[in-house]
Amino acid sequence: MKESRPIGIFDSGVGGLTVVAQVRRQLPKENIVYFGDTARVPYGTKSRETITRFSVENVEFLMRHNVKIVIVACNTASSLALDFLKRCFKVPVVGVIRPGARRAAGATKNNRVGIIGTRATIGSGAYQKELKSANPKITVFGESCPLFVPLVEEGWLDSKVTGEIAFGYLKGLKAKDIDTLILGCTHYPLLKPAIEGIMGKTVTLVDSAEEVAIEADRILDAHGIANRSNKKPFHKFFVSDDPKHFMEVGERFLKQKIRCVKPSE
Ligand code: DGL
Repeated sequence: MKESRPIGIFDSGVGGLTVVAQVRRQLPKENIVYFGDTARVPYGTKSRETITRFSVENVEFLMRHNVKIVIVACNTASSLALDFLKRCFKVPVVGVIRPGARRAAGATKNNRVGIIGTRATIGSGAYQKELKSANPKITVFGESCPLFVPLVEEGWLDSKVTGEIAFGYLKGLKAKDIDTLILGCTHYPLLKPAIEGIMGKTVTLVDSAEEVAIEADRILDAHGIANRSNKKPFHKFFVSDDPKHFMEVGERFLKQKIRCVKPSE
């Protein structure tokens, strides 16, 4: 059946599992095939050309699993390769930038929005552009936080050193009097308590993982391809490097046991 085809989700590695967690929560009937490009992570330090080439290969892999829609669960790939992917493939391709930017534009009261992400994401200006097109009055302040990804992957979520590094990155944004902060990297939702500790409770943290699941739901409905079957859905995980590390780290992101991860080859 057409509708029972899986949703394809890819990321540079393990971070996209925060998106899988949201898709599972909000679209519980959908089958999922996830691909984490663990052999080539990180994307956040690479060029547009390289990120685009990797992203095309990732979608080609998902297409071989007969997916009906692709979610680019990586802010870096969404920032730099989304338009190209949309032109290359027949299935709908949805990224995390527009949904996150829309939510932030709706949340801000003082029109001062911060965005944190990898160097490539911040440097691309993709969030800045989406926020401005949602509301031209918004002033955007971006900050790249390259040390956050390794901290999260090592499980250093609430240590003293994480707090100090977070303070170093965020103090500039705090001084700008923003009232909304976009967590523009799939790893960052795991650092919410540390980030909130510095920014304070009055700053709304926007998690693009939540928003992209809502957007995928809307697209499936619009195309009439939401899965209506009551059969238990499958969730398959593939990686381009050793599955063992992905399984161990991934459970923190998914907040659930990952029973089987296969190499993509
Ligand atoms: N998953 C990436 C993102 O959301 C971060 C990790 C990387 O640099 O590849 O931007």
